[in-house]
Amino acid sequence: MNLLKPHLYQMSAYEPPLEGRSAKKHLLLDFNERTLPVDPAIEKALIKYIRSGALQKYPAYGDIVARIAKYAKVEEGSLMITNGSDQAIDLVIRAVCNAGDEAIIPAPSFAIYRQFAEVENATVVEPLYTKEGGYPTSDVISLANSKTRLIVISNPNNPSGTGVPREDIEAILQAAPNAAVLVDECYFEYYGKTVADLCETYSNLFVARTFSKTWGLSSLRLGFLISESGNIDQLLKIRGPYDVNQLAVIAVEAALENPEYTKNYVKEVMKKSKPALEKWCKGRKIDFWPSSANFLWTFPPQADELAEFLQTKNILVRPKKDALGRLGLRINLGSVEQTETLILSLNEFYD
Ligand SMILES: Cc1ncc(COP(=O)(O)O)c(C=O)c1O
Repeated sequence: MNLLKPHLYQMSAYEPPLEGRSAKKHLLLDFNERTLPVDPAIEKALIKYIRSGALQKYPAYGDIVARIAKYAKVEEGSLMITNGSDQAIDLVIRAVCNAGDEAIIPAPSFAIYRQFAEVENATVVEPLYTKEGGYPTSDVISLANSKTRLIVISNPNNPSGTGVPREDIEAILQAAPNAAVLVDECYFEYYGKTVADLCETYSNLFVARTFSKTWGLSSLRLGFLISESGNIDQLLKIRGPYDVNQLAVIAVEAALENPEYTKNYVKEVMKKSKPALEKWCKGRKIDFWPSSANFLWTFPPQADELAEFLQTKNILVRPKKDALGRLGLRINLGSVEQTETLILSLNEFYD
């Protein structure tokens, strides 16, 4: 007899291909990370804390929730911090899905949603994104039924970069009032649009955010979840009291003192680097999905060989297949200089 829940034995672990990556050796364009170091003030604050002789203490969060709530322009009671936004996603799914419930998770998308829904033994329903139509809003609405407990809106979506209009999100919130609608705003600072303010209107809305991407703190793991305060009160019962570590809190406090550092990076990526890669793709007649995020899902000829060639140039990108099985490369954008390096290598491959 299996000791653990039987369905777990049918699943695989989520193992992202992290092996052999080095920030020193490689230009890392494969995980949608910030490609430049974080604000030196963050390093300073971390070193100061480490040297203060307090590492043996459990974390004390102080006013970090209030500070993040101010940044996110929501009430303090509507927000909780989590161990990365992965944990925010997990908490919502664990709190709403029972075995046999349906979870609508449009595909292709970030693998964690499906992973966590399957851990709860939910039935995953996967309408498809299309390059032309974007998020399958009308399919989602017609698939929603009394068994639907979760609807995921990755906004913008990973790997396609697709943004979902606010009207579509509201239509889904209204069409499925008994399902939790999880809007993942992991790439918020790049996209610049949020529905966090709608949490006051819709009690079935959950918005996940993170300090991993634009802010560059993925290694420290601090995300947050926004929802009606009554929902947050319940979810706080599931999260462990120390799931967010003290160093993450110290880093985020320092980061929020200087949001310009992040804003300037975002501007460079979105206004210069991304348009440069889009222009290169158009010039070479290379197909890509319209993206509202800091990455482009491109479909270059000989994608496999190109990824290998880039690796020989110490540039890492992420192979991702579309629904038809066509291999694409998801390419993260960084500084202008890094994008120029990328384009030089791309030209070298095709010329
Ligand atoms: C869409 C999306 N949501 C959430 C995450 C998880 O981010 P975090 O580091 O906050 O757990 C990622 C990471 O790649 C992502 O792409």
